[in-house]
Amino acid sequence: MKTILVTGGAGYIGSHTIVDLLKSGYEVISVDNHYNSIALSYDLIQKLAGKSFKKYNIDIAQENALKVVFEENDIHGIIHFAALKSVPDSVANPIFCFKNNNNATLNIGDYALKYGVQNIVFSSSCSVYGNVEPADLPVQEQTKIRKAESPYAYSKQNGEVYLESLTDISDLKVLALRYFNPVGADDSGELGEFPSKHSNNLVPIITQTAIGLRDHMMVFGKDWNTRDGSCVRDYIHVSDIAEAHVLALKKLFEEDYESKFEVVNLGSGAGVTVFEAINSFEKMSGVKVNVKVGKRRDGDVESIYSWPVKAKELLNWAAKKDVDTMMDSAWKWQKKLIELGFNATKL
Ligand code: NAD
Ligand code: WQD
Repeated sequence: MKTILVTGGAGYIGSHTIVDLLKSGYEVISVDNHYNSIALSYDLIQKLAGKSFKKYNIDIAQENALKVVFEENDIHGIIHFAALKSVPDSVANPIFCFKNNNNATLNIGDYALKYGVQNIVFSSSCSVYGNVEPADLPVQEQTKIRKAESPYAYSKQNGEVYLESLTDISDLKVLALRYFNPVGADDSGELGEFPSKHSNNLVPIITQTAIGLRDHMMVFGKDWNTRDGSCVRDYIHVSDIAEAHVLALKKLFEEDYESKFEVVNLGSGAGVTVFEAINSFEKMSGVKVNVKVGKRRDGDVESIYSWPVKAKELLNWAAKKDVDTMMDSAWKWQKKLIELGFNATKL
């Protein structure tokens, strides 16, 4: 069976993807420096998948750190998740963001070429589209790429450009998956995202408020030009995202698959407002959330959602789990976090 190197495998999306990879029969090697994750993720993954895998605690942004991993293993494909994903952190500290995200991707590409690894799935993001305008919606892969709104988004644009340039000079093939808003947790409630000082995402804030870790939550503006005045996003269940990575690898491994570089949107295609997300949560959990309406958050776009047809055509992938399922799983995971002793909103 093929061996897959997963960078950032202890993180939110990486951990769910490793479960799928192990269940699909792949051997997995995870590299993570736990900047934004904890090793407990690995225990939860192994319990869910009923299988163990190899791990390295290394910082892949450091030159040569990956050497040992490529020397010791025969790697057939790479899923490159490792990055700092906090947009506000990247604005506050662009040097750290660029050093980490760009160097990590630079090194992954460099080692893939040195060791003849021909398949990379790259974690990209809807943030590469920049400040989308209503006329751009729904966002297609060929939608104009606007100026990046943050160093983080720029690091994802860079990652795509860099990896594509490597495909021009080698046998490397790359699928860059542009995720919209991944949320939720494994439906078992046994794996999810750990609270982090680098996260201010909507769904953990809803569940933390519902469980009493926060007194209230804010909706950032209800004066947007949308159906209920709150922003619209394309939420996508993290397990659906994980499945797309397994399908992306399968595609890259197909003998007659010749395309060198493709970008693919991973979204549901449906726009959901902040109030709709909160209502869905309340319905699924039976818990009323203490919601206040605040002013708009700097940098937010009004609406963004995908046109997910290419994912269906190329990968035979489509989002299966609806917003209610996302919220139900997020709530199960929040309760599990308390059981595990995570009684704070941030690690
Ligand atoms: P995450 O922070 O939970 O996971 C990323 C993991 O990478 C963490 O475990 C972190 O410790 C590790 N890491 C970071 N830099 C590293 C380095 N230099 N060396 C080794 N390990 C390193 O984030 P996530 O939500 O799982 O996101 C995974 C990928 O998907 C990221 O590239 C992110 O930018 C991208 N993405 C995420 C979202 C989202 O909303 N979660 C949306 C679009 C794209
Ligand atoms: C969702 C909606 C907020 C918190 C971010 C990154 C993006 C991508 C996905 C990585 C927005 C509203 C939120 C709160 C609120 N990540 N909100 N109250 O900003 O759409 O996207 O994650 O690539 O690059 O920017 O996600 O979860 O922060 O916000 O009203 O307390 O919820 O205004 O409309 P966002 P989010």
